[in-house]
Amino acid sequence: MIRIKTKIIAHRGASKYAPENTMPAFELAYQMNADGIETDIQLTKDGVPILIHDEELGRTTNGFGFVKDYELYELQKLDAGMYFSKKFIGTRILTLDEFLQWAKGKPLYLNLELKNNKIDYEDIEIKVLDAIYKYKLKDRTTISSFNAASIQRLRRLDKSIDIALLRSRSHGNLAHYAKGLGASSLHIRYNLLNKALVKSSEVLNLPIRVYTVNRSINIWKCLKLNIDGIITDMPDKAIRIRNTR
Ligand code: G3P
Ligand code: CA
Repeated sequence: MIRIKTKIIAHRGASKYAPENTMPAFELAYQMNADGIETDIQLTKDGVPILIHDEELGRTTNGFGFVKDYELYELQKLDAGMYFSKKFIGTRILTLDEFLQWAKGKPLYLNLELKNNKIDYEDIEIKVLDAIYKYKLKDRTTISSFNAASIQRLRRLDKSIDIALLRSRSHGNLAHYAKGLGASSLHIRYNLLNKALVKSSEVLNLPIRVYTVNRSINIWKCLKLNIDGIITDMPDKAIRIRNTR
């Protein structure tokens, strides 16, 4: 019998049930026994790494305009829970430092995605690495990005930390491409998952994690292929299905 190695990773926290990338969503994922948490990082105008997915504030906060145009103290006044439901009014945007401080004492795998594919934030790589070093979390953290140049910069800065290339579209052999950039993992959108890619990633010793897997049938397929991680908005559901195998 094959041991299922697939980690269940909460996408922006348990974001089906609580506002994405906020403490309630992270706490919930932890209570649900998720193996790990995925979150998104951008920089404020004064260069502080914070957790937010969109480049613009409008969808998930009561602010407007671009994250990059506000200083931390301004962003910390915003509400990041109200968009989800009244129950979460008063929820704040977190800094990366606050998140890592919270995660430090918990046995969680972390996936920090640099949101630098549309805005190439200066020095985001070194800032995120420094935060990981500060909390001694290097051994259980993957930094990921869609930005190929950022993957190369990260690898130049740290020879051994796990770095994942993110891809939502295929062009040629993704495993080879990722390896060539210096990545040590591959994070792909679910539609790109197939046996051949799993095989070529295995050959190159490149763990595969897949996002955003919420449907039961797709969770089953990932478990069957025994990939390294499922990134899901519903960690409780994925864990339930994994437990039945
Ligand atoms: O890191 C996997 C996934 O989160 C990438 O897409 O848009 O949800 O950040 P997105
Ligand atoms: Ca993400």
